[in-house]
Amino acid sequence: MKVLFTGIQPTGDLHIGNYFGAVRNWVRLQHEYISYICVVDLHALVIFNDPKTMPQRIFDMAVGLYACGIDMEKTTLFVQSEVPGHADLTWIFNTVTPLGELERMTQFKDKAQQHRKNVNAGLLDYPVLQAADILLYKGEVVPVGEDQVQHIELTREIARYFNKRYGSTFPECEALLTETPRIMGLDGDQKMSKSKGNTIGLIEDKEEIWKKLSVAKTDPARIRRNDPGTPEKCNIYSYHKLITPETELAEIHQGCSTAAIGCIDCKKILFKNLMAELDPIRNKYHALTAKPKEVHELLAENAKKCTLQAKKTILEVKEKMGLKPVWKI
Ligand code: ADP
Ligand code: TRP
Repeated sequence: MKVLFTGIQPTGDLHIGNYFGAVRNWVRLQHEYISYICVVDLHALVIFNDPKTMPQRIFDMAVGLYACGIDMEKTTLFVQSEVPGHADLTWIFNTVTPLGELERMTQFKDKAQQHRKNVNAGLLDYPVLQAADILLYKGEVVPVGEDQVQHIELTREIARYFNKRYGSTFPECEALLTETPRIMGLDGDQKMSKSKGNTIGLIEDKEEIWKKLSVAKTDPARIRRNDPGTPEKCNIYSYHKLITPETELAEIHQGCSTAAIGCIDCKKILFKNLMAELDPIRNKYHALTAKPKEVHELLAENAKKCTLQAKKTILEVKEKMGLKPVWKI
């Protein structure tokens, strides 16, 4: 079986963009690959981080992923900072990564714009740490949303640069996208993202979700109740496509095009279907938060397992680079 590796930042609660764009796929794929999922707390440090809330955010992310269906036995879910090799391999990769490659990364350019007062070296180096995450476990398949594809391409190049200089060591990984690799936010203008405040959270209060949905953007042509619309131009319809069963979806398509269904009714159906999908996740989430010890122990055990694997790779890399302990010379 091939190795699958992916990561997620503990920067806030999981949202439906994460779920339908990535996490739901991780749940399916864990049966086909040796799966590693990493809560990337070191990555999260490049933007302002509150040390007081960090432990809880890490825990919540792990619980959220288990609640979505990540299998406690099949998948090795772990916390990045608990495994020392990630930072070690990042330094090594820094020495083979051209600066220009990092400077042209879209995410770096966007975040540098967004956080002008905190353009730290880590923000630029972010994709190198990501490459180290993946290649420490010799990951070959990396399921992510569309925004991460550029970083996975760079990971492949870093592997190539390293292999060329020091001999074949790392596989060339590939990104694996879902059919919906980019879920738009409630504003309908930008990708749904924790940092943009345009999300529907998986475990968010139901009333809060409805409040957000009821004012969310629809097809601008539907100004009055009787104005027909074009479903393909409506963000709410794009959410329907994620969860609404086929026959109901066809009815909504027809209803929107002929003005037989108003936007509020369309949103009510979406809300009903969304809750049906999210209810089991929410229940599992609450059940797991009541058993923090079990989750903590599992994360510690998984970090131990990853540390062994990481050590193996680092040793191989060091040997290839001539970094042998003096007693071996
Ligand atoms: P966020 O942008 O909300 O901070 P992360 O960067 O932690 O989310 O992303 C975690 C995973 O979810 C990544 O694989 C990312 O590509 C995916 N993802 C995030 N937002 C979306 C979205 N709106 N549509 C599709 N996939 C997404
Ligand atoms: N950069 C990714 C994101 O923001 C998170 C991440 C870190 C990741 N390391 C990874 C994703 C390794 C895939 C593989 O979503």
